[in-house]
Formats: sequence, C-alpha cells, structure tokens
Amino acid sequence: MSKTHKIAVLPGDGTGPEVVAEGIKVLKAVAAKRGFKLDLTNFDLGGERYLKTGEILPDSALNDLRKFKTIFLGAIGHPDVKPGILEKGLLLRLRFELDQYINLRPVKLYSGVDTPLKDKKPEDIDFVVVRENTEGLYAGAGGFLKKGTPDEVAVQESINTRKGVERCIRYAFEYTKKRNKRKKLTLCGKTNVLTYAFDLWERAFNEVKKEYPDITTDYAHVDATTMWMVKNPEWFDVIVTDNMFGDIITDLGAMIQGGMGIAAGGNINPQGTSMFEPIGGSAPKYTGKNVINPLAAICAGGMLLEHIGEEDAALDIEKAVMKAVGKDIKNLGAGKMGMSTTEVGDLIVKYIGG
Ligand code: IPM
Ligand code: MN
Repeated sequence: MSKTHKIAVLPGDGTGPEVVAEGIKVLKAVAAKRGFKLDLTNFDLGGERYLKTGEILPDSALNDLRKFKTIFLGAIGHPDVKPGILEKGLLLRLRFELDQYINLRPVKLYSGVDTPLKDKKPEDIDFVVVRENTEGLYAGAGGFLKKGTPDEVAVQESINTRKGVERCIRYAFEYTKKRNKRKKLTLCGKTNVLTYAFDLWERAFNEVKKEYPDITTDYAHVDATTMWMVKNPEWFDVIVTDNMFGDIITDLGAMIQGGMGIAAGGNINPQGTSMFEPIGGSAPKYTGKNVINPLAAICAGGMLLEHIGEEDAALDIEKAVMKAVGKDIKNLGAGKMGMSTTEVGDLIVKYIGG
C-alpha cells in the first residue's frame, strides 16, 4: 500500500492561492512519480474571510490544523485590512499556538539566477538561517502608558527564555551536523548592546556547543552579519539568531539568492505541526494576473516533503527548479519571467517527469 500524507492547505490572501495552486500541481506530480498519495484539506482563512465574517482564526480551525503534521501556506495580508491584524491574528498566532519554534530559511543561489552581488557565484551563496520563531520582540510583551498624550510611553520587550533559546540553538547544531557541508554554525546577535538577551543566547550557545566537537562555531553581531552577507556570503554555512534579527537578515538573504520569487521557508515544530511558505507577501497588485512567480511556493513544497521524509521527491523538485532557472526563466520577478504563473508550474511538472 502506498503511503498517504495528510496536508492542510491554507492559500490565504492576494497571490497566495495562485502560487499554492502551482505548488500543489507540483506536489501531485512528484507524488505520482514517487508513489505516495496526498490527502489535502483546504482551509479558508485570510483577509477575505475576515472582511466577510470578522473571523481570523477560529478555535475550531486551529484545533483542526493541530491534527496535521504539515500546513502548506500561501500568503497572509490584505490591502483592505489594517496592517497587523492578519499578520498577528493569523500568521504569528499559528506560529505561536502550534509552537513552531524554528523558522528555517535556506539562502541558496541557483546557477542561472541573477544575484545583485557582483562576482558572487552559486558556490558562494549557500547557507541556511535558523531563526527563533516564538519569542523575542515578537512575543508581544509590553504596552502603552498614557497613550495619546504628550507623555505617552510605548514599551516593547524582547522575551528570551532559557528553554526557548536553548531548543533553537540545539536545533541549529543538529541541523548543521545533518546538513554536513562546512559544519560551521554562526551565532548572530548583539552582545555589545543587548547585554541581557544575548548574554543568555551566548551562554546557551557555548554550553550546547560542547556537545558538538565536530562543528566549528563563530559569532557575529547582527549589523556585521548584514555586512558579511553582502561582502563574504561564502563564510556562512548555518546562522542561528533571534526572531527579529532573523526576520531582517532573511529578507537580505532572499535578495542575494535572487529575490522573493524563489525564497521559501519552514515554520517548524519538530514534534508537532509545521508550516511551509514562500517568504514573500501577498503581492496584492499582482493578484489574479497570472504573473506572480510560483517558484518560492514550489520550493516551500519541496521543504515540506523533506520534512515528512520524502527526501527523493524533495530532490526531484529542487532539480527541476534548478533546471528551469538555469535554462528557461532568466528573470524571477513578477511579470518578468517570460511565462505565466501557471506555465512555470507546468514547466516544473514537465522537468519532474514521471
Ligand atoms: C516573515 C514576515 C512576518 C514576520 C510578518 C508578515 C509578520 O515578515 O515571515 O518574515 O515578521 O515574521
Ligand atoms: Mn519578514
């Protein structure tokens, strides 16, 4: 009997449904080729539903999602909904409630893809950011005092628990070991200014590293990290960092690997429900035009398969994407690919073969 994987699909807003459709097309093709089945369940959540019903993430939907090992997410964010409502109420709430404490973001330049970094080649840009995904400045701690008055105070605190920091660092060490490339893990922080938060990070890092004598470790302040990512990206193998810094440096990472059109990520709870997504937004201005690049979603689908143990299928997707960007798709920008969203999906399916 062939294996069946149950996947929750959350297309979301804007171009989310378009890229998710191509991602699913590719997942189905690779499942047929490799002989496993997909049982997909669609979840109607996002800006449209909120505007119609006022619901963002009903408890019933959350509890249903908990039953899945993986979620395939399109994009969250709607032009008619005030910024923050859907991001916090849906995307961040899912990450927190499902305790997806790792945000895994590979930064890999494929041959044939343009990078804005002069003289850098695919062998120079191949690293992974392990971003803590449930704490830090994102935890929502803080508040206002005397809001709206001239004496107003706004406080936003970074929450760093020993448990949260240590499990993230431990995941990063394990990941570096399993990745088995340069076996180097860089802690990215700001120990010279954030002397409480990153003191905890540094102590946890130094303790855990004793268990991994084969892994070379390094430390870089976050500002220097952005500098090295541009000047010497080849120095990095795996970077571990907190939520806010990870958010910032992975947008830079996406740009040096060729843009949001190709950047994918996973929100991971190794014991629970993990969620894979293209890291770009909902791109409202391209919605419904069949011009958005679905490769990031297709790559997110590949990460999902790797997560559920379908490594060969994941490799099939990566190879097909590499072939397409090396040969047919020279520009990864929306509307600039020389083919439509659906044609890109079809091309990847063709390269996967059967
Ligand atoms: C990301 C996004 C989110 C974040 C937003 C939409 C809340 O920028 O996934 O990187 O800040 O984590
Ligand atoms: Mn971001």
